[in-house]
Amino acid sequence: MGMDDLRWPRADYSRVPYSVFLDPALHAVEQERIFRGPIWLYLGLEAEIPNPGDYITTFAGDTSVVVARADDRSIHAFVNRCAHRGTLLVRNQHGNTKDFTCVYHHWCYDQKGDLIGVPFLRGLKGKGGMPKSFKMSDHGLQKLRVDTYASVIFATFHPEAEDLTTFIDAPMCEYIDRMFAKPVEILGYTRQRIPGNWKLYVENTHDGYHAGLLHQMSTTFGLFRATEDGGITLDKDNRHEVTSSVHSSDDVKASKDAYKDIGWLEGGLKLKDPSVFEYVDEYGINKAANLCTLFPNVIFQQLSNSLATRQIRPRKWNEFELYWTYFGYKDDSPALRNTRMKNANIVGAAGYSSMEDGEVGRLCQLGIQGGGAEQSVVEMGGLGPIGTQYTTVTEVPIRGMWHNYCQMMRIPVVNAAE
Ligand code: FES
Ligand SMILES: [Fe+2]
Repeated sequence: MGMDDLRWPRADYSRVPYSVFLDPALHAVEQERIFRGPIWLYLGLEAEIPNPGDYITTFAGDTSVVVARADDRSIHAFVNRCAHRGTLLVRNQHGNTKDFTCVYHHWCYDQKGDLIGVPFLRGLKGKGGMPKSFKMSDHGLQKLRVDTYASVIFATFHPEAEDLTTFIDAPMCEYIDRMFAKPVEILGYTRQRIPGNWKLYVENTHDGYHAGLLHQMSTTFGLFRATEDGGITLDKDNRHEVTSSVHSSDDVKASKDAYKDIGWLEGGLKLKDPSVFEYVDEYGINKAANLCTLFPNVIFQQLSNSLATRQIRPRKWNEFELYWTYFGYKDDSPALRNTRMKNANIVGAAGYSSMEDGEVGRLCQLGIQGGGAEQSVVEMGGLGPIGTQYTTVTEVPIRGMWHNYCQMMRIPVVNAAE
């Protein structure tokens, strides 16, 4: 079945056809309609390029992109593809430079992506050279429109993307404002390849239901339990989300009752070093599990005091890279910094919680193989209107994510009257 034949099975988005995770041809359509569509993509943090000439290489969907700070301190993003014959221009993860020179024929670009040098432009000894009609100003790198919000760098390929603050929307702006209220210090990076479709991971971050079940270590040692007060806030288009729960807001008896059939809370397990899950309420919100996803490519994460962005980099229909940028604040006390570093054991490729999210992505991709005609069931939280949820035991935000996906991909519902 090709893209043109795809029809969504239900108007309430409570079924997801497994073919959307299995069709290799969807990858290119998603790149065109979503990642190069009228939305904003997370590229990085201003703290990664604090000085004139600093740059990073990052991704906009499956496209390698350079983000650079020019000498006038303005920020620029351009496709990392030489305008001559397409060579990957910048091969480092980060650096500082006055200009970028392609390894192949040494075309040279400035910090804003404009072409400033072509070797042998006029040929040698009267022979060779570019035609008179060749103008360097016609052959700069492909530029993205860049904007920043609270020192977070976003870009779009699309001329008609709404303004960045409208795209992010108020509840997510509030989250980002709090997280980036102070000067940030980058602590490090990890990255991992997950052998599953990228949308499985976006489902996972919109899925409050799994968090109190899959992540048994977090549940056992108090990072997050479904019995705590919590919820999932959605944006105006039901595509982004903020999930949070109030730390230790359940009582021991309620959580033991809720989990009595599962049993691990009764096990008397103790951590030799409980500081891994230590939580300092640095924002005065008493939320140890507090995450924000902006569709399609970034998760902002505060788990205990581990702060990170996770960038989704789709590679092909059954593989994506997850790129983690860990940070703290310049004014962190040594004790708080130490807590952050210990909390980082919860997340990343091998983290006590995050390892499980990567693994279920792999397991879903394995399980659905051969099941392209089948559908997943997304009914937890009910089939009512899609909107903000005042519980984490819900899959309603996943239905919102798919509604938005279908709109962007122009996938019709099989029977709109249903
Ligand atoms: S491909 Fe870059 S200079 Fe030729
Ligand atoms: Fe998870």
